[in-house]
Amino acid sequence: MQFVIASHNKHKIEEFKRILNPLGIELIEAELTEVEENGETFMANAYKKAKSAMLETGLPSIADDSGLCIDALGGEPGVKTARYAPVGQRKLTVLKNMENVPEEKRTAYFVAAIALCFPGGDVIEVEGKCYGKIGYECKGEGGFGYDPIFMYGKKSFSEMSDEEKDAVSHRGIALRKLEERLKEYFNR
Ligand code: IMP
Repeated sequence: MQFVIASHNKHKIEEFKRILNPLGIELIEAELTEVEENGETFMANAYKKAKSAMLETGLPSIADDSGLCIDALGGEPGVKTARYAPVGQRKLTVLKNMENVPEEKRTAYFVAAIALCFPGGDVIEVEGKCYGKIGYECKGEGGFGYDPIFMYGKKSFSEMSDEEKDAVSHRGIALRKLEERLKEYFNR
């Protein structure tokens, strides 16, 4: 089975492939028209990206919209996660805004909303959340985006192996839900 992946984020695509390839799903990267991510929810943006890719390619298309919600910042950066500050300054902006926040109030979660649009009009939507805390500095070398400042237990996401991150991450949780939904969908 082939799905078009509506993302240019190499790291995200890598995570999708790691989890979906073993299920026999091949992800195709395509040149797609950029979609404005102006929805009010993660899912609205994921659906918009997936639908646009499906209409453009005529193939089942999958998209993820994800972000980091920090309790002490009233849920920010939230849906604005990718545009929270200029490239290269996002993690540091979060750390700065969290400077005086005590340990017990540093709770945060990552969300991944994933939409899969089929040419016939069917849509599958799944969401995953991963709860953790915002660290005090960047830790680790792996991962991408906000991984170095997101603490899951004693390790930041950047300090985890791919397998460790996939087992608990928002995207891992959402993709495993998608696997279940796909089984139901194809066995109807
Ligand atoms: P999107 O491409 O509009 O979904 O933007 C997602 C934003 O959230 C980007 O700034 C990403 O760097 C960040 N993000 C999403 N998932 C992760 C993750 O697993 N680790 C670190 N940052 C993430």
